[in-house]
Amino acid sequence: MEGYILEWLNLLGRWVHLVTGIAWIGASFYFVWLDNHLEAPSKASDRDQGVGGELWAVHGGGFYNAQKYTNGVPAMPQNLHWFKWEAYTTLITGAFLMALIYWYQAEIYLIDPNVMALSKPVAIILGVLTLVGGWLGYDALCKSKFGQKENTMAVILVVALTVIAWGLCQLFSGRGAYMHFGGMLGTIMVANVFFIIMPGQRAMVASTSKGEQPDPKHGVHAKQRSVHNTYFTLPVLFVMISNHYAMTWGHEYNWLILIAMSVAGALIRVHFVKAHFGKPSLIPIGSAIVLLLGVITAIAPSPRIISSDETIERVSLTEAHAIVEARCVACHADVPSHPGFSAPPKGIVLQTPEQVLAQAATIHQQTVVTKAMPIGNLTGITDEERDTIDRWFLAGPTAE
Ligand code: HEC
Repeated sequence: MEGYILEWLNLLGRWVHLVTGIAWIGASFYFVWLDNHLEAPSKASDRDQGVGGELWAVHGGGFYNAQKYTNGVPAMPQNLHWFKWEAYTTLITGAFLMALIYWYQAEIYLIDPNVMALSKPVAIILGVLTLVGGWLGYDALCKSKFGQKENTMAVILVVALTVIAWGLCQLFSGRGAYMHFGGMLGTIMVANVFFIIMPGQRAMVASTSKGEQPDPKHGVHAKQRSVHNTYFTLPVLFVMISNHYAMTWGHEYNWLILIAMSVAGALIRVHFVKAHFGKPSLIPIGSAIVLLLGVITAIAPSPRIISSDETIERVSLTEAHAIVEARCVACHADVPSHPGFSAPPKGIVLQTPEQVLAQAATIHQQTVVTKAMPIGNLTGITDEERDTIDRWFLAGPTAE
């Protein structure tokens, strides 16, 4: 029953997280796009009112005329819309999922004894520290003398994030390390909204309501943080979907793959931001493509060449099935005996020899290539057993 309830909490939490995340990033992408497309206002009267830029758009059957007041408005409008709950609910639901999956079930998803045999409390404390410490370190960096130097900041951030990615991959399971990296960046993004952007906007509203010019420093600080948020977005989204791709986090150099994918994501965003200004450059997008192709080639599985005089000792289906039965079926059964699961994970059932034969390639991929299974090595598979599965698969599995 517990497994069943966990599964529903997981599904509902993920659903809300996805929806709020779309609302948040959708609005955020829209405003970056809007800001970058503004043109000088056509009417002198608008300019006199403080309109710094405007644009026309058509969407959903209506024409829209957005205007940006660069520094304050002549009078506070009656209804002023804020965009904050999209970000906050994404963080709240994200933290809920992190706690539910990676902390509450740390022995399954976060701890990998082959990486480091952490105890559950230590693993959870390290996870929480990553999220909180990431924000504290980043915020201090932004407020330091390097904060306003965009290129220096970019270099420092890439170096620091590389060290963090490497460190997390030495502590946690690959998927746990990736998710804490993405969760840390996501936390920074929401904390930027909560601690910097929102208070700045409140101060702007307060001074405008008193008929004063808002202090431009609020705009400068908010701008710095929203620029960072824009470039963090694609790396975070990569991490959120990476879970399904053990070839990335399951790789020996998973931390390097994570950084390469993150840099590629940031470069893709750079491309779009430049394109907004009508100045697309081939350098960022070209570099992103080169990086992606580099990762794709570097992690391609190398087919094991078997020379003609080398005979692989054949492994029978009975032998392979016995390993699967001992190490996999606790979870991958119609009715799993492992208490954490109420249904076979990913619908994969490996009970009968026929089922094992039919899924030989995925079994090999998960057990030998990425070593993602058995998850957290909860069933204690040995290297010899992995090697047996490898030989069984390479010799071409048959019904014998
Ligand atoms: C403790 C439970 C558990 C054990 C034991 C276990 N698995 Fe899994 N398996 C999972 C979970 C959970 C997932 C889903 C992971 C995810 O959400 O990406 C999964 C997913 C899979 C997948 C699908 C992967 C994908 O991304 O599509 C395969 C194949 C698989 N397991 C094979 C095996 C094999 C082979 C073994 C034994 C060597 C095994 N598992 C042992 C829990 C387990």
